Formats: sequence, C-alpha cells, structure tokens
Amino acid sequence: MPDLDSVLQKLDRDARAAADWGQVASYIPQLAGVDPAQFAISVVTADGRLHQAGDTHVPFSVQSITKVFTLAITLGRAGDQLWTRVGREPSGRAFNSIVQLEQENGRPRNPFINAGAIVTTDAVLGRRAPREALAEIIRFVRTAAGSEDIHINETVAASETDFGHRNFALAHFLAAHDNLTNSPEKVLGTYFHHCAIEMTTAQLAMAGRFLVHAPGLPRLVSPRRIRRLNAMMLTCGHYDGSGDFAYRVGIPGKSGVGGGILAIVPHTAAIAVWSPGLNRYGNSHRGTEALAELTTRMDWSIF
Ligand code: DON
Repeated sequence: MPDLDSVLQKLDRDARAAADWGQVASYIPQLAGVDPAQFAISVVTADGRLHQAGDTHVPFSVQSITKVFTLAITLGRAGDQLWTRVGREPSGRAFNSIVQLEQENGRPRNPFINAGAIVTTDAVLGRRAPREALAEIIRFVRTAAGSEDIHINETVAASETDFGHRNFALAHFLAAHDNLTNSPEKVLGTYFHHCAIEMTTAQLAMAGRFLVHAPGLPRLVSPRRIRRLNAMMLTCGHYDGSGDFAYRVGIPGKSGVGGGILAIVPHTAAIAVWSPGLNRYGNSHRGTEALAELTTRMDWSIF
C-alpha cells in the first residue's frame, strides 16, 4: 500500500498544477468572490491519526455538507417518521430543482436536495426557536469534530437570505403541501444559518469520524444509523452527479456548494477535501478529481 502522506502531497501538487479549477458558485454573492485556486485535503484514519496536505488551516463554508449532520440529528429526534415526509431515492435533478417537487406533490426525493434538507431542518426545529435548534446543530458538529472553534458565518447566512429566491419557492411549495410545521421564513432562517457553518478540512475530517464505524473513533449514532447515513451519501450525496461520483470515486460522499466534500471509507477513514471551483453538478471539481485519485491509489473504493 502506498504511503498516505506521500499520496496526499502528490494530490496537492497535482491540484496546483491544474489548468482548470472549475467555477465558484455565483448565486450566493458572498461565495462568488472566493478564489477558486485553493486546495486542501485532510484524512483521519481508523487509528485516529490525521494526515493532510494543502490549505488545511483555511475555514470554508461547508454549506450542504451540514445536511449530513442535520439528517443524523433528525433521525435521532424523529426516527423513521421523517421518511413519511421525505424520500430516499436519488433525484437525478439539480440540487435546487423546483419542477421535481411539483411533480411529486411536495414530497422531496431525498434529504440532501435542498427541498429535502428544508424539511429535515423543519423537523430539527420542531416547536423550538431557531436559536435552540442551531445551538443543537453546532453542538453536534463541535462534538463530532472535537473542536469548539467552529462557527456560523453570519454574513454568508445573510447573503443567502437576500438572494435565496429558489429556496423560498421550494419552502412555500412544501408549505402548500402541508410538509412544513413552521413558517417558510423560520425554517429557511435556520437552514441558511446551518449551511453557513465554516470549518477547515481538518475539522471536517474529524467531524466525519463518527460515520467511519471503527472501534477507536467517537460513536455518536448507532451502527445501523451509520450504515444508513452512508447509504444516503452514496446514492444522493452528489445530486445528479451521484452516479458519476460512485463510478469514479467509489465511496459515500456529501458535497457542498462552497467546494467541500466529506467522504467516508467505511471502517477505514474520513476524508475532507476542499477546492472552491465547482463542476457542472455544483460539486467541487478538483476535490472530486483528488478523491478519485486517492481511492484508486489507496484501493479504497467499496466496490
Ligand atoms: O441552499 C443552498 O442552495 C445552499 N445553502 C446549499 C446548496 C449546496 O451546498 C449544494 N451543494 N453542492
């Protein structure tokens, strides 16, 4: 087996030599100004050791990756009841598709597309104030990462609120189908804030340890739930690019429009990669390339 640290150093060098970094997301103005030519990768192995290369000290907006944590929290609070409101199938559509929600009568395909994550956030809220729900989400993420230095970027949350017209359309559509228990404004206020959590790749890889299912790593949810969260990540974690990610990378992963990806090698490692330029599915371009190379070199595909 090749030496992991050497492989990570090579991935960092390859990324920096690349001509194409992809395009940063433009629909959240605060993210549109981020330099796409950045790269970081951190890996926590089953023995608890952290291996990394690149800009691993730079915090970035984790965005949709937080949907994994809110799903874990919701399943803990509401259990299988969530599945009466959200499906478990790949969407085959863009993460912010409106047409699919209409066609399917207000029941989102899965908890990782925006419509599904808005329902999940509504379930995390329950009857609580947004501040209490956000405190639970931040507490979960900090506990998982073993770091108190993880925060919400209020400017990013405000930027998305001001320009979140598609998410407001989705939330109102959900409400029209009685699939929200709170007002669209309250749910989206909470959703935009948890999406605006910032982490470094080191913190994110640490936060992913609970999904690895290895004896020495923190256990936050049951083994059965770990399997199910990983199944959702594999089938739905990259939206309409999930099949391509499974084909090329071969492990469960969840992307965010800030250019981060959390990927899990079951029983072996948690990986966080970040490069802000995106591919046509809205997933990190260089991050995906690096993960494909990493799983090939380390023989980490689950297939
Ligand atoms: O709701 C949104 O559009 C963003 N807060 C999150 C979307 C996202 O990260 C999509 N992932 N690639």
